[in-house]
Amino acid sequence: MSKYIITSALPYAEGVPHLGNFVGSILPADVFYKYIDMKGEDAIFICGSDQHGTPIEIQAIKKGITPKELAESVHEKIKEAMARFECTFTYYGKTDSEKNKETVYWLFDKLYKNGFIVEVTDIQPYCNTDKLFLADTFIEGTCPFCGYEKARGDQCENCGHLLNPTDLIKPHCRICGGTDISFKETKNLAIDLKKLQPEIKDFIDDRKGNNWSITAINKPLSYLEQGLKPRDITRNIDWGFDVPMEGFKDKKFYVWFDAVIGYIGITREWDEGKWEQYWKSKDTKLIEFMGKDNIEFHTMMWPGILIGSMDNLVLPYTIKAYEYLTARGLKFSKSNGIGMNVENSLGVMDPDYLRFALIYRLPETSDADFSIDLLLEVVDKIMNDKIGNFVNRVLTIAKSNSEHIGRIEMSKDYGSKIKSIIEKYKSDFESISLREALHDLIDLAEEGNSLISGSEPWKMKKDLSDTEVKNRFSEVMGNLIYTVYAIGVLSYPFTPKASGDILDYFGISGKPKLGLLDAGINLDYSKEVKPIFKKATKEQIEKLKMFSD
Ligand code: 2FM
Ligand code: ZN
Repeated sequence: MSKYIITSALPYAEGVPHLGNFVGSILPADVFYKYIDMKGEDAIFICGSDQHGTPIEIQAIKKGITPKELAESVHEKIKEAMARFECTFTYYGKTDSEKNKETVYWLFDKLYKNGFIVEVTDIQPYCNTDKLFLADTFIEGTCPFCGYEKARGDQCENCGHLLNPTDLIKPHCRICGGTDISFKETKNLAIDLKKLQPEIKDFIDDRKGNNWSITAINKPLSYLEQGLKPRDITRNIDWGFDVPMEGFKDKKFYVWFDAVIGYIGITREWDEGKWEQYWKSKDTKLIEFMGKDNIEFHTMMWPGILIGSMDNLVLPYTIKAYEYLTARGLKFSKSNGIGMNVENSLGVMDPDYLRFALIYRLPETSDADFSIDLLLEVVDKIMNDKIGNFVNRVLTIAKSNSEHIGRIEMSKDYGSKIKSIIEKYKSDFESISLREALHDLIDLAEEGNSLISGSEPWKMKKDLSDTEVKNRFSEVMGNLIYTVYAIGVLSYPFTPKASGDILDYFGISGKPKLGLLDAGINLDYSKEVKPIFKKATKEQIEKLKMFSD
């Protein structure tokens, strides 16, 4: 039997993630994990806060607290917001834990002994105005590959290329804005990706068929074609893990080195006795979710570390990378005070609505636009009108005519339509096409809605003394109630609360399993019928407008 490790890119403990970030990593990972869990697979869902990095260091200095204090408090906030968003991690940890430190040192030692760590001499930018070495994210300039003017020293956000600060055209310091920058020589340790290139290439060739996103295939192939170079794993900074090697004790490990290793470190934080059962089993499928700007680290440095350790650690099976969710009219950015993030969006709407609308707009193959209008349209016209009203009508008719409803089962023709939608839902989940799977769920409600309007069961009510009408009524209601039930089960990955509310009418509590679809169904007709979804209220719309431009 397969085992699964499902990971989401670890959010920086710099602030609570904005929705654009959440939709491309944690949310799809959570939705997929919930599906895998419904199948009854042996799966763990691992995530946590990325505690290191210069932005956190600089922000802490500004606030007059230590980076550790800042990261810790933001970590707690993120963790709480994620729980409110119904994200059910097996464990949500953090990268600055003792366990991760131990893991980083262990893997560094392995890489070193196996000959994959080299010394490099870097030219590092130094701001003569601020009198300090500028970490990669604190130098900005024009990208030599695409011409984007706000590329950072480590990466161009626009085209995704990894950069060195010296690659930037017209660089300037992001702290003071000045251009009085010198480049000074400094020694660093690097992972020798050049030496690991053949194995990394084999890894990509071997696995890219496993439902990888197209960009997650194309980007690494183009990096490999350009030829890999050693990539720094240490930095002249103060916030990070110490480097346990003579000559480098004044440096720290680079944030990305301990971030990717964090997937293992966090699993160990969860359960030291169990982590190897997942990370060292040949039956494990490691499925990694991330935004497209994280592809290079996950397809080059991360497999480089895993391969170079020569310790039979599991390599990623699928790299699922998302494009950007752009927000017309809604501020997603963390940098300007009132950006709509995971925390404050929950002050406007319950998580089910946001989860559904975000997956509806999931940027799977190209950047997608999100707006207040779209959110309201999805909430009112799809969640409320198509799904919520359907569930409500069926349960209401059923409740007042329960004595005329026999066994709950589907008729042949209708049943085969519903079953084929359910099969499509499953196969869309298997190929990690989450937006499609959500559309399959909507299709179930559509099918039910057309049966209701085509058969008009409420009109049959007055003739139920007629056996033929009564049989027909019972058959239609069996079809409709099963459809409601199936929506109850299959909505779980997307809208866990609504799923629980629907299944409660059927006497089912706790996390649902797919096997329920084939089990006997009992509807508790005595329960009061309440709406599953509601339209957005005026107050909610007003609140949403606070986040608009
Ligand atoms: O881009 C980011 O937000 C990073 N903190 C992602 C790290 S993912 C993994 F490597 F930890
Ligand atoms: Zn670029």
